[in-house]
Amino acid sequence: MPRPKIALIGGGNIGGVLAEQIAYRELGDPVIFDVVEGLPQGKALDMAEGAPLAGSDSRISGTNDYADIAGAELVIITAGLARKPGMSRDDLLSTNLKIMTQVAAGVRDNAPDAYVIVVSNPLDAMVYTFKEISGFPKNRVVGMAGVLDSTRFRSFVAWELGVSVEDVTALVLGGHGDTMVPLVRYCTVAGIPVAKLLSQEKIDAIVERTKGAGGEVVALLKTGSAFVSPALSAIEMAESILRDKKRVLACACLLEGEYGVDGLYVGVPCILGAGGVERVIEVEMDAEERKLFDASVEHVKTLIDKIQL
Ligand code: LAC
Repeated sequence: MPRPKIALIGGGNIGGVLAEQIAYRELGDPVIFDVVEGLPQGKALDMAEGAPLAGSDSRISGTNDYADIAGAELVIITAGLARKPGMSRDDLLSTNLKIMTQVAAGVRDNAPDAYVIVVSNPLDAMVYTFKEISGFPKNRVVGMAGVLDSTRFRSFVAWELGVSVEDVTALVLGGHGDTMVPLVRYCTVAGIPVAKLLSQEKIDAIVERTKGAGGEVVALLKTGSAFVSPALSAIEMAESILRDKKRVLACACLLEGEYGVDGLYVGVPCILGAGGVERVIEVEMDAEERKLFDASVEHVKTLIDKIQL
């Protein structure tokens, strides 16, 4: 059986890690697209030459031509500028909106049957823009944010307790920004609620660190934002779709009534399988959690209201 073709729109830092991981795990044959001449071809050639050492027969290529993404079963979009220190994700809106408008047309016209994972920031607005311009059905357009925010939360809990990261599960909902909502009640360590293991003070600190985790990396790197953990988060989603694993993952999904929200992309748990977003799962929230979630949705809405397509 041929490996699926996976188009990566954007040959920057996240695109590079995506290509490497997809190829070296033989999840598919990655095609890196970027508008900068030589960049995607150079990255692809380097990875292809290293493939024997990774034991991978995936084919890796780079292109500046959208025509080369034809036949892609999955498209992962990372195109756009990344944050610099002092910027919020929202500050990227006007620049990345122009880029996403072109990308969405390119994907729509050349890979019309693909499943699409959007990673570009500000995430909730970019995935909404892609959906609007492409006209793709909602099950085929999903945003990566909750997996990343949840994995950061998991890491902080595991470090604090000195336990394996594998045993910590977490659920972070809402928009991918300062208003994100880590649902502490749904965080467990091998099934044990985290509140039974950590003090409220420690939990509060972890919640705050999670909300600012992207910015913490930006402040250290100075030249850009996190790229390994975002790429691995998108791979987890890609794998669930391509291998029909039906993982339950927090993703930005188009809500049409769920959670009382209509017409916005917001981070919620969903089932990802061969049908893309197969189902949104509605979790019960207490009054305080609901208030935070509503505030996060309201923030996403103010961003969407600024978009004119
Ligand atoms: C972050 C960026 C990728 O959270 O949004 O690091």
